[in-house]
Amino acid sequence: MSKLPPRRPTLAVYSGTFDPITNGHIDIVQRAMHLFDKVIITIARNANKTPLFSLEERVDMIRTCFLDETERIEVDVMSGLLVEYATRRGATAIVRGLRAVSDFDYEMQLALVNRKLERQIDTVFLMAGLRWVFLSSSMVRDVARHGGDTSGLVPSHVRAALKNKFL
Ligand code: COA
Repeated sequence: MSKLPPRRPTLAVYSGTFDPITNGHIDIVQRAMHLFDKVIITIARNANKTPLFSLEERVDMIRTCFLDETERIEVDVMSGLLVEYATRRGATAIVRGLRAVSDFDYEMQLALVNRKLERQIDTVFLMAGLRWVFLSSSMVRDVARHGGDTSGLVPSHVRAALKNKFL
């Protein structure tokens, strides 16, 4: 019987602004790791957003979340088109989290545009855990800005970083 060629490791890209990373994002990454051998979390430079945290701060916060998984999770920064980045990195999929039906229209549009641009890259949607469907980075920033408690929404090092920003 002829031997099958070795399977190429599966690689996915999870992109966003991550200002800051939340427990909802972490949940999506952990679930993507059940499907892919490696996940690249990439911070997209977004001209339409003025982030609270610098790129370096966001990279550090994400890395700290996954210190035990450095073999399988990479943190990177990108500009330009996500599909071009994914192709350059040898990824076959873009991971997106769906929190509610309200995310669907935008996500479908994004997935279709990305597919039009690059047919080799598929978008894989993961439903956010029920506990996180209400969560977004701007909501977390808002809670912190007004002195609210962000524990349970973000990891402890992110909570500390938020406290520092709004001292
Ligand atoms: N848990 C918690 N929050 C979540 C979440 C989850 N599972 N999924 C999404 N969110 C939140 C994010 O925190 C973000 O909150 P904010 O608006 O308060 O900052 C919001 O939902 C939107 O997130 P996302 O859809 O990831 O938007 P983004 O602006 O961070 O990134 C991309 C959008 C993917 C388009 C951008 O990152 C990108 O890749 N740009 C490259 C250019 C490109 O290729 N564009 C598409 C082709 S036209």
